[in-house]
Amino acid sequence: MTADSSQSLKFTSVSVGSFFDQVSQAYDDSIRKAIPPYLEMFDALLGYCFFATDKPLQILELGCGTGNLSVLLKERFPQARLTLVDLSADMLKQASDKLGGEGAQIRLVQSGFMDLSLEPGQFDMVISSVALHHLMDDEKPVLYQRMFQWLKPGGLFRCADETLNVPRSIQDENMARWAVWARQNGAQDSDINLWTEHAEQYDHYAPLSDHFRWLTQSGFINVDCYWRKLMWTVFGCARPL
Ligand SMILES: C[S@@+](CC[C@H](N)C(=O)[O-])C[C@H]1O[C@@H](n2cnc3c(N)ncnc32)[C@H](O)[C@@H]1O
Repeated sequence: MTADSSQSLKFTSVSVGSFFDQVSQAYDDSIRKAIPPYLEMFDALLGYCFFATDKPLQILELGCGTGNLSVLLKERFPQARLTLVDLSADMLKQASDKLGGEGAQIRLVQSGFMDLSLEPGQFDMVISSVALHHLMDDEKPVLYQRMFQWLKPGGLFRCADETLNVPRSIQDENMARWAVWARQNGAQDSDINLWTEHAEQYDHYAPLSDHFRWLTQSGFINVDCYWRKLMWTVFGCARPL
């Protein structure tokens, strides 16, 4: 076994939550290098959160990680109550530290997305960044059906995530472009290898057209894509009134 292949086997026996526990300290630095348009993607996502900034919103964030989007949500909607969900205790701990800990406006839930049991009709918005692609393709439509129930009528779903470019040749081309762009953005071989190996083991990208079909079948309307660069995609929809 070469050093490289032993490195690539490092995470085979651990769950995605344990993977993120292990990388949580290095996550913020590494992800900003590995996703060059990380902050631009958040800008696009937040630009489509059509709510008055002083509204006491109920927001559910799926896969909050270290809280980078959560902090921006809190700045944009200071009266909002955020329910932050993540499988990784260590990622949640960092989100909690950034947001000043659990309290009246922050609820932390350590759970898998598919294990969540939430009251129906309570959220104004469900939002997620770079997280839902960890679900298998047969889980995504089930989660979308549940999200529909968790939202209030008129509530919004907003998502930034990696989606599969079609045809496959474009995906392959974009993966090559990504490695060049990430290196220009400061990523080292260790960052590229970390996220490439992670993707091979834990990521399940679906084409945007599949997401649109699953969302429409779940009852959502106004399903649309707002922004896209390589595989990073911002899309969303609404529960009808
Ligand atoms: C790539 S990080 C994204 C974190 C953050 N949203 C961001 O944009 O930087 C993905 C996060 O989703 C969480 N996650 C992945 N699969 C999950 C699942 N099935 N249930 C709950 N959390 C999950 C991971 O623990 C991790 O913190």
